[in-house]
Amino acid sequence: MKVKRFSSMDDLYSHAVATIVEAKNNGATTFGLATGGTMEPLYAKICKTDIDFSHCISFNLDEYVGLEATHEQSYAYYMNKHLLNQKPFLASYLPDGLAVDPLVETARYEGLLQQYPLDFQLLGIGQNGHIGFNEPGTSFASLTHLVTLEESTRQANARFFSSIDEVPRQAYTMGIQSIMRAKCILLLAVGEAKREVLERLLASDYTEDVPATALSKHPNVMVLTDLQEEENKL
Ligand code: GLP
Repeated sequence: MKVKRFSSMDDLYSHAVATIVEAKNNGATTFGLATGGTMEPLYAKICKTDIDFSHCISFNLDEYVGLEATHEQSYAYYMNKHLLNQKPFLASYLPDGLAVDPLVETARYEGLLQQYPLDFQLLGIGQNGHIGFNEPGTSFASLTHLVTLEESTRQANARFFSSIDEVPRQAYTMGIQSIMRAKCILLLAVGEAKREVLERLLASDYTEDVPATALSKHPNVMVLTDLQEEENKL
């Protein structure tokens, strides 16, 4: 896992855009996308470029269960608002939060991912080490599945809802194995709230207790952060 630290947010996000452009220039056509506050400045920057995704396919990592695509906090809505309306892809897939049968839905999504293997995957990280919505303890062999969100994840994401009660309790997420199949992975860990988890990620062994440590066995992962190494740490 390579780590690049930036003192300027603008440089960090410019580097992220450049990494995506480079992947595209090298032939990437299938992109795994992420949501969350961390990704908003990235998508804003992408929208200001002339990058053309019209021959590419996108897959989102996850979606809340129970929210319609028109709900302002659904990840479908987020993606349209921040990226896809301005930069349309040939096709864009997300899990369907309103699917009637979770087993059918997760098999459908995983089938699509296997049909269109990911060339590139963008990741944020949760404060508990989750990637996508793979909470601590998730098997590293997991495929797309239904998860019950940890209370800490609901609390962390409550800032986007008018109250904690509105935050869904379940979500669909690509599994760790689904994510690990991507040829190239770019993880962004931005802001003080991510300091502790970034340190844990970099210091931990390969452990399902910290889902993001699965990435340590991936041959092509880049982590971008604005967090500097703490000096004189005892
Ligand atoms: C959510 C998403 C993750 C995201 C994480 C961090 O739980 N499911 O994919 O990486 O939150 O979000 P933020 O960037 O808002 O801190």
